[in-house]
Amino acid sequence: MKRSVLNRFGEMGILLDPKAVDALMRLSDPESCANRIINDVQNRPLVLTEEDVIKYASDERDGNNSEATDKHRENAPAIAPPVDAKPREFSRDVKVLKDVTGNSTCVGNVIDFAKLFKDRFSTLKKMLAKRRELAGLMPISRAKKLERDLRFAGIVNDSRFTKNGHTIIEVEDDTDKIQVLVPKGTARPNEAFLKDEVIGVVGATSRDGGIVIAKDVIRPDVPLSSGMAPNGSQAIVAFISDIHVGSNTFLEVEWRRMIDWLKKDPVARDIGYIVMPGDLVDGIGVYPGQEDELKIDDLYEQYAALSEITKDLPDWIKVVMMPGNHDAVRLAEPQPALPKDIRSLFDSSVKFVGNPCYLEIEGRTILAYHGKSIDDFNSGTRHLNYTNPQETMREMLRRRHLAPVYGDKTPLAPEQKDYLVIDSVPDIFVTGHVHVCKVDEYRGIRLINASAWQSQTAFQRMHNQMPDPAKVPMVHLGTGECWVEDFSAQPHPRRSVSM
Ligand SMILES: [Fe+2]
Repeated sequence: MKRSVLNRFGEMGILLDPKAVDALMRLSDPESCANRIINDVQNRPLVLTEEDVIKYASDERDGNNSEATDKHRENAPAIAPPVDAKPREFSRDVKVLKDVTGNSTCVGNVIDFAKLFKDRFSTLKKMLAKRRELAGLMPISRAKKLERDLRFAGIVNDSRFTKNGHTIIEVEDDTDKIQVLVPKGTARPNEAFLKDEVIGVVGATSRDGGIVIAKDVIRPDVPLSSGMAPNGSQAIVAFISDIHVGSNTFLEVEWRRMIDWLKKDPVARDIGYIVMPGDLVDGIGVYPGQEDELKIDDLYEQYAALSEITKDLPDWIKVVMMPGNHDAVRLAEPQPALPKDIRSLFDSSVKFVGNPCYLEIEGRTILAYHGKSIDDFNSGTRHLNYTNPQETMREMLRRRHLAPVYGDKTPLAPEQKDYLVIDSVPDIFVTGHVHVCKVDEYRGIRLINASAWQSQTAFQRMHNQMPDPAKVPMVHLGTGECWVEDFSAQPHPRRSVSM
């Protein structure tokens, strides 16, 4: 009830002092009092205080409300003695389920890359083998000797379109490689086969025996699910991405507006956790000419400035920071957490993790990934674009892989285990990188691209990318409800529910 009452005030543009919320919630019928305030268009305050609530509640008891009943009067006084507004007590426990930090094994030779792809293939093949359409999955070497009912899995080596709109792909497993013709209409329109993704094929050998004609191409995908069933948690997780401290386009005014809201708004007292999925600072030498767009041109000082502005976050919030492609760790993914000399600038309210990372917070699994590979997905797939990263995120989930393409825009580290495989199904999947704000859903998984705190850069202008900054998507961990708090302009709150 508290949320629905608060949302109603939010929709009317009425701000609530935390003590006013407590006073409202102590009433025997908060909704009735809220209605009275909201309907009092002439006199209602812009910022509702505890005194206002007491006044409206006592007016109601005194019979100034025609709807007040005798029962209400009998129950009065409904207001308990005021107590200091305090945030809820959260566990503040952020469990790291999967992260390369402290587990890196690579030395960067060819053997390591062979191990990485072997691990990727074997994990995804196991997922494909569970698919009904691929029952009886066989090695490619055996499939090559048969003519019908071929079912095999492989890594895509190469793919090209034919003049007639068909696609020819070469797939390989640990026994052999094979050419597959995917006739037009077999896969979805504009379906792309990305290099190094793992697929399953159902087909038959062509009459001349030179190629397999696919009847179906199967992606590992995530199972259908109705999503987050209520689990009783009262906490909210907020996502703040791509802060880019140090850039001269960092949105300081909007950041301050968000901090003020976090300190004052009653909804913010339920925010137990903030996850920051990368590009915490702008970095140095990330793109040509970046030095002309920096306000702070020392990397260490950029993190010191980040530390200062995160100290303003309310102290009941646990913060999780992960790196992106602008941060001070290796570019190759998976990226480990920030190094010790930078971590030492922050207090214990901040937890540092690698990119990507699986987290468990209040019983919910969160897959956080900065999102560099969105560049590879979008350049290799006709229907994907930078305005709708949630579509790209769906493609990652269908492939059960965050960054399949090796040798393009996303550098990969030759770990013996492939940390970019989506080996378990998250409740929430969050990315950043493209500086837009999207909240969506795929097969029960909340999809979030978490905005940015930087206005349009010269680089983005050149590439015609329009950012959607200063927004904070949130998920209620108990109910799965998602919404966005918009700090891009006054007045706030400007709340939009996206699902
Ligand atoms: Fe960024």
